[in-house]
Amino acid sequence: MTLLKTTLLAAASVILTTSMAQAAPTAALNAKFGVCFSCHGVDGHAILPTYPNLAGQNKDYLVQTLKEFRDGTRPNPIMGPMAKPLSNSDIDQIAMYFADLKPGKK
Ligand code: HEC
Repeated sequence: MTLLKTTLLAAASVILTTSMAQAAPTAALNAKFGVCFSCHGVDGHAILPTYPNLAGQNKDYLVQTLKEFRDGTRPNPIMGPMAKPLSNSDIDQIAMYFADLKPGKK
């Protein structure tokens, strides 16, 4: 995929995710946050009991927590490196995605 295509997809996904609550991630979300989904589940239900479920979690909590992982306020050997490369808008985007998912669905 070309850089231009990736950029356009990313822009489109921002518009999509802010304009409607959708359960299935766009290709751009998958490309950017696929690594998150590999542990926390694409539906926000984690793949292992020791990984937290994020479906339906409060958006502001998710934003705050990811910033704390990123700046080391909440030190964690797994989530620290995961949050490091995220921009504020990445954090907003993924927090909104998980907050919009229905909790309790398996
Ligand atoms: C290798 C598995 C793994 C990956 C990949 C991963 N996480 Fe996590 N995540 C965890 C674990 C384990 C915790 C619990 C950390 C702790 O002990 O506080 C966690 C915690 C979190 C929390 C805090 C949940 C809470 O209830 O406080 C958030 C938010 C989160 N992850 C988001 C993400 C995002 C966004 C990504 C992708 C950038 C991601 N994670 C990638 C395993 C993972």
